[in-house]
Amino acid sequence: MNPSSPLLPVLAAAPIAPDPGAAAGVPKVFLETFGCQMNFLDSELVRGRMAERRYAFTPRRDDADVIAFNTCAVRDHAEERVRARLHELKRAKERRPGLVVAVLGCMAQREGEALLDRFPHVDILCGTREFGRIDALVEAVRSGGGPIVALGEHDPLPDWKRDLSQRPHRHSAYVTIQRGCDRACTFCVVPRTRGPEVERTMDDLEREVRALVADGVVDVTLLGQIVNAYGRKSGGDASLARLLRRLDRVPGLARLRFVTSFPTLLTPDLMQAVQDCETVVSYLHLPVQSGANSCLRRMARGYTAESYLRLVDRLREVAPKVELATDVIVGFCGESDAEFAATAELMRRIEFVQAFIFKYSVRPGTAAEKLLPDDVPLAVKEARNQELLRLQEAIQRRRNRARIGALERVLVDGPSKRDRTVLSGRTSANRIVHFRGDAALIGQQVDVRVRDATALSLSGDIAAAAG
Ligand code: SAH
Ligand code: F3S
Repeated sequence: MNPSSPLLPVLAAAPIAPDPGAAAGVPKVFLETFGCQMNFLDSELVRGRMAERRYAFTPRRDDADVIAFNTCAVRDHAEERVRARLHELKRAKERRPGLVVAVLGCMAQREGEALLDRFPHVDILCGTREFGRIDALVEAVRSGGGPIVALGEHDPLPDWKRDLSQRPHRHSAYVTIQRGCDRACTFCVVPRTRGPEVERTMDDLEREVRALVADGVVDVTLLGQIVNAYGRKSGGDASLARLLRRLDRVPGLARLRFVTSFPTLLTPDLMQAVQDCETVVSYLHLPVQSGANSCLRRMARGYTAESYLRLVDRLREVAPKVELATDVIVGFCGESDAEFAATAELMRRIEFVQAFIFKYSVRPGTAAEKLLPDDVPLAVKEARNQELLRLQEAIQRRRNRARIGALERVLVDGPSKRDRTVLSGRTSANRIVHFRGDAALIGQQVDVRVRDATALSLSGDIAAAAG
């Protein structure tokens, strides 16, 4: 379950066993999620709503009475995968007219009713601010209504309806602190799909984090489309820095992460909080998108390569524990060889611990779609993508190999995907570490002496349980 876009790679932590008691005769839901962590968390909300109505869940589409896709619209590729799924379902729907097909989230919001013209067998379009009533929409269709188009503002902050027992991982959990984005980066569809910024109160968030920790969670990732804008909408004294300091005091919490930050909103206050708070990880996801000022201007990012570099210098002074990760888009409208070279140069200078590289994909309704030609040939986008992947791989290999011999504190996520006899965990800077150990260590922190490293992960031996 690789996400097609960061926020961050979706957690690979110890799963909570699925409910085996799916009784016969109970209607079953198949729910597939695409995209970022916020989508995975939204799917949890959907599961909670459906479970409350006594629906069961199935991992098999053929078994399901309700088939739902929680979708991503950030690049065309993510949408293409959903379109392929919907094509596949045409036949099933002919055979079983009672089957309910639902498209949820960003793609539903972006395409609206046009999606129904192309896929008339879809029964429900449920937008990003309507998740809180998905159960009612399904019930309405099952009792003969439909198709239903719910793309309004019924519930811009459905998080208070969260059912903690629906979270997929025992030790790690996501918590949405803020939704939507008020910026207008010219390439980005998110302001259209997620709408304007809305945020939860610090009291509400602390309550939720305490409840999660009481239920066994040690690792919390705070989510927002522009997470360090938290506080600016509601006024008052809320800010991400204050929130981190509050949550850092919750007993039993081991790790606190937050994604994704916007460069110009990385305040000195926030840098200091990151350095001071013991639970806050030493990993900051700070998308740069391009290293060329002319390109950054066309993207309307509101900073220059120089100001980004100054910010990084300042961060490294105030919070030396922090390692940086980023997102980069190659082949954005008009990107010249010189502009691309500037991006590669910036990546060489900063040496990110992780970089997510994307080929530019035109998004309907964005300023770039309306105003700028998508004029970089696909082959050039592909070549630039490969070049940056190779560059980043070399940087990661070198930086990871520099850890050989070091002692790393690792939060144990679960058995490794490749070899079930090996455990897998992450360092505070989000490096993956493999080592042998007892499954009883899952959810705990251990100190691992690094023996070997590749561009993607470290491996080593447990030196001591770190409690
Ligand atoms: N603030 C959001 C950004 C969502 S998009 C977040 O929290 O992650 C995630 C990343 O996808 C962006 O940082 C950007 O690098 C990439 N991206 C966004 N729109 C894109 C497009 N039209 N084509 C290619 N990549 C895009
Ligand atoms: Fe998108 Fe820019 Fe907001 S990348 S989510 S419009 S900060």
